[in-house]
Amino acid sequence: MKKSTQVALDGPSGAGKSTLARRLAARLGFVYVDTGALYRTIALFMMREQAESDTEIIAKLPELNITISYENGQQHVFANGEDVSALIRTPEVSMGASRVSAIPAVRQFLFDLQRELANTHSVVMDGRDIGTVVLPDADVKIFLTASAEKRAERRFAELQEKHPDAQTYEEVLRDVIKRDEQDMNREIAPLRQAEDAVLVDTTNADLDQSEEMLFAVCREKLGL
Ligand code: DC
Repeated sequence: MKKSTQVALDGPSGAGKSTLARRLAARLGFVYVDTGALYRTIALFMMREQAESDTEIIAKLPELNITISYENGQQHVFANGEDVSALIRTPEVSMGASRVSAIPAVRQFLFDLQRELANTHSVVMDGRDIGTVVLPDADVKIFLTASAEKRAERRFAELQEKHPDAQTYEEVLRDVIKRDEQDMNREIAPLRQAEDAVLVDTTNADLDQSEEMLFAVCREKLGL
């Protein structure tokens, strides 16, 4: 029996998912779970281990123990005890995460961890397949999107703050389109809107307006 309340927030990269999921979780008093960070952690670990083929990646998975903790509402993710939260936001790790996330054994590995978190805490969980695969019975399902150009603009601004010389806007846009393509066309758990998810488009909305749209959906679905 499900005792916790589950909000599933899916969508492509750069739609504002993580910022909005964090804000929504704070407002609802729920735990925010950024599942992309889990795929990123696997990607970083495999890059360090120089595991490149699917076979090598699958063989190395049992050597990785991923744990999560929360400090001031911020999610920290640990790879075998090391806090890697600050290391998993580079363009290389983004591409690596998209790549490892297409491997069924990787998704299975994270499935249990995500379910365990969502069954023991009320959560706002953001990802690509939360409403479709991980939490098919979630109380609220939202599919958050925006145009590719708008999402690239946002990614670029975010990257400028952390890694100013990493990429030009055109490179970010190219990566956004490439990742969408990879995430939507993979065979396993492709990025798609669940039938019972509410579509929220943030192309023409700022963060505050987007937050209000999401909160309105939750208020209605949760009867708040
Ligand atoms: O949300 P993000 O950019 O941190 O996600 C990194 C990659 O991980 C993204 O390319 C797709 C993948 N991912 C996934 O396949 N399933 C999830 N639930 C979350 C992320």
